[in-house]
Amino acid sequence: MKKRFIVGNWKSNKTTHDAVAYLNILARHYQTLKADPNKEVILCPPYPFLYPIQEGMHSRNIELTLGAQDISPFDQGAYTGEVAGVQIKEFARYVIIGHSERRQHFQETDEVVAQKVSQAMAHSLVAIVCVQSVTTPVPPGVLIAAYEPVAAIGTGNPDTPENADAVAKTLKETKHVSYVLYGGSVTSANVGQFMKTEHLDGVLVGGASLDPEEFVRIVQYA
Ligand code: PGA
Repeated sequence: MKKRFIVGNWKSNKTTHDAVAYLNILARHYQTLKADPNKEVILCPPYPFLYPIQEGMHSRNIELTLGAQDISPFDQGAYTGEVAGVQIKEFARYVIIGHSERRQHFQETDEVVAQKVSQAMAHSLVAIVCVQSVTTPVPPGVLIAAYEPVAAIGTGNPDTPENADAVAKTLKETKHVSYVLYGGSVTSANVGQFMKTEHLDGVLVGGASLDPEEFVRIVQYA
């Protein structure tokens, strides 16, 4: 059975109180979440919840992998408002880089994405680099790309599994990434179709990951 990554991207949603409630529900379904050792479940909450979620997992004896949604393009230092790789590393193993929302709302360019990838690598974080199409640049050495067509994000109109599979194949051949995830309106109802394809290795889930019961179902059907 090949390895699959199920990544929940909360984006800029929830409060600490919500995060704890979410964790309580995940704890109830922990056996389901850990049933298949080939599935890596990665939760990417906003930065301030990384610590309470990490602590909350310890006290509940559950272990999921944490990821950040972004990283500073610089090392630690005088960069007000940024969170550096060395700080993320205390809590997370993965980091999402280059999401189309960052490109759209924060003017993030390919150059900035490349700087962020080098920061992730310098701090041994695994970068999940978002690409909007096969022409989006992927810096060398990246292990995981997430194909997220903009028209599919948050719209309820996912790409077809066939097209996403073809894109994944091309990305593996041309960008030399080892794994490709699909993201864009993934739900428990369609995740199985994406996971049946030959070249996709997981999903990046936004909206549907906000509901813990739905997220558990996605993990189950992935
Ligand atoms: P969505 O978002 O699942 O809400 O479409 C996916 C993403 O932006 O990562």
